[in-house]
Amino acid sequence: MTISKIRPIRSYVLRQGRLTKYQLKGIKLLSPIYTIPFGNNVLEWENIFKSEKKRIIEIGFGMGHTTAEIAKIIRNSNFIAIDVHSPGVGNLLNIIKEKDIKNLRIIQHDAVEVLEKMVLDESLDAVHIFFPDPWHKKRHNKRRLVQQPFLELISRKLKKGGYIHIATDWDDYANWIIKLFEKNLIYKPRNSDFSKKPSYRPITKYENRGVNLGHQVWDMIFVKS
Ligand SMILES: C[S@@+](CC[C@H](N)C(=O)[O-])C[C@H]1O[C@@H](n2cnc3c(N)ncnc32)[C@H](O)[C@@H]1O
Repeated sequence: MTISKIRPIRSYVLRQGRLTKYQLKGIKLLSPIYTIPFGNNVLEWENIFKSEKKRIIEIGFGMGHTTAEIAKIIRNSNFIAIDVHSPGVGNLLNIIKEKDIKNLRIIQHDAVEVLEKMVLDESLDAVHIFFPDPWHKKRHNKRRLVQQPFLELISRKLKKGGYIHIATDWDDYANWIIKLFEKNLIYKPRNSDFSKKPSYRPITKYENRGVNLGHQVWDMIFVKS
């Protein structure tokens, strides 16, 4: 079998984006402090943060502005934010340092592999996914992050009563997500009105783009029963 046949389908494309001096400096100086390397070792949250708080993972933080704001708002939780793109990692590292955010760390890797290899079952209080790439062309739908096996993986990692919050500005992706949740009886919707943004979620960069295009925004929160 050729390599291309066994390569898993990824929900992202690694672009060779140029790093600004600011982002590069962030990565060089701050990675050793705020970044957790990907590996086969299980995350030891209390050891990493030196505090016992709720545990929230954010998948796909982009440039990280929203992630940093949420970490400031939800102070009773520790956050591990995951993305693959270096410019965003550099940016968020700088924000963590500048705003002196103590409850946020970064992993630069595919979040699916992080969940599989580094996260203990029934250990998370929440998973946040804000504006995942919509992969809106039919032939690209298979690249969407939110799929049946993905929801099963998350349900294993969440504690009972833990929640997953997904926001999107693509109606088609929102309907796809709702249908998947309906098949997974372990999840129950927390909010009945998916057009209402919870107060802890600031508006994100991608959301602004969607809103300017006239898109409706969906905030879907499902609790593991
Ligand atoms: C459309 S952007 C949204 C960024 C941000 N949440 C916002 O709303 O501005 C989606 C992000 O998810 C990241 N992403 C997609 N699949 C991922 C995966 N499997 N693991 C980690 N990050 C992923 C991409 O690199 C990208 O930064």
